Amino acid sequence: MAQTPHAEEHQSFIKTPEQLAAVVFLAFAVPIVIIVILTQFVTGPSSDPAKSMNEDAVARRIKPVGDVVFADAQPAAAPAAPAPAAPMVAVAAPAKVDGKAVYDQACSVCHAAGIAGAPKVGDKAAWAPRIAQGKDTLYTHAIGGIRGMPAKGGNASLADAEVKAAVDVMISQAK
Ligand code: HEC
Repeated sequence: MAQTPHAEEHQSFIKTPEQLAAVVFLAFAVPIVIIVILTQFVTGPSSDPAKSMNEDAVARRIKPVGDVVFADAQPAAAPAAPAPAAPMVAVAAPAKVDGKAVYDQACSVCHAAGIAGAPKVGDKAAWAPRIAQGKDTLYTHAIGGIRGMPAKGGNASLADAEVKAAVDVMISQAK
């Protein structure tokens, strides 16, 4: 009698030990390769900048909403910063230094709102102990910087006389 169709159904395509070895190997290797590819999808570098784990990209995403911008920073580089209200006071003309203009341009960034621990202009309690140090000390600290206060408010192009004039304006607001 010829083989019945029933017997044929039970025949495996694995006929030799080599085929069996290949099937066993692939049964391990194929899932592993798939898992590796999937993890690459999840953790690998992404071309989407919004999802990139690159250090710079992450730093940009988690940076604070506000920036402290020094008066001499290019407005184009920091569009969020308010444009300086007054043009730079001419260093060449110290005879008529406009302390208010210097203050508006170089100091108000921190001192108007009391940013970074800066004594707020008009806050008498904050200024009393500082004024008690004496005007010359305040001048020295404003010109040379102290702790969070950058030298000349971070605007090195200011003349000493301009910084002093701005200090005078700030002191006058605290009296
Ligand atoms: C980046 C922010 C920032 C800017 C800009 C800035 N200041 Fe200040 N200023 C500070 C901080 C912070 C302090 C408090 C420092 C401390 O005592 O720890 C301070 C303190 C001072 C004091 C008191 C110093 C003392 O001896 O107690 C004077 C005076 C002063 N600033 C003047 C100025 C003048 C004038 C300008 C502009 C030319 C200016 N600041 C711009 C942050 C700033």
